[in-house]
Amino acid sequence: MTIHIGAKPGEIADTVLLPGDPYRAKWAAETFLSDARLVNDVRGMLGFTGTWNGHRVTIQGSGMGMPSLSIYVNELIRDYGAKTLIRIGSCGGMQDRVKIRDVILAMTATTVSSPSSAILRELNYAPCANWDLLKSAAEAANDIGANTHIGGIYSSDVFYDERPDLNEQMVRHGILGVEMEAAELYTLAARHGRRALAVLTVSDHLITGEALPSEDRERSFGDMVEIALRAAFA
Ligand code: HPA
Repeated sequence: MTIHIGAKPGEIADTVLLPGDPYRAKWAAETFLSDARLVNDVRGMLGFTGTWNGHRVTIQGSGMGMPSLSIYVNELIRDYGAKTLIRIGSCGGMQDRVKIRDVILAMTATTVSSPSSAILRELNYAPCANWDLLKSAAEAANDIGANTHIGGIYSSDVFYDERPDLNEQMVRHGILGVEMEAAELYTLAARHGRRALAVLTVSDHLITGEALPSEDRERSFGDMVEIALRAAFA
């Protein structure tokens, strides 16, 4: 047990999928895993461990934003020894060619500030995905026919953003989408020598103002879980 995760030693798998929403963790575990068992419910941040094609997998909610994700990922890595950590989440599209429901594989994650900024200080560190996971995810996305984009994303600290000029610069510099967690995930994985990737579904669009209807969310999010699982065990 840790401060925020109630799982006993050995109840967390080496491979952990991290949706922001704990109810999405439950849905993904029930939909994709065999013998899924609840291993954490501290603060309602549900985590489940089961198997996928014979491989042990944990699906653990990370909450919204980098400070929340940082708590779970630190404990998963340092106390439970997690080796492969894949965020599965939603993002806002930032380029015209990126459409609602498309999948984004985040090669890099730009940020203004993350919980790691306190130690990186003046460095403009470039958080990046693990290459093997990224390559395998690209192949998996191709195999299942998901409309996929690979490139940089923006990990913002705010959902209700009052600095539209920052988004404009991100769009101008080719950033594909905005979310709120990947940069810290990549930084922690790099610090501890673990593998990380963010697989994202475009749920809304900053340029067109479109949003994914709620009834469509499940199917679109399913593609993302399938890609993450195939990449983890490729
Ligand atoms: N902004 C930040 N995070 C998000 C968004 C967004 O528009 N959509 C999904 N996650």
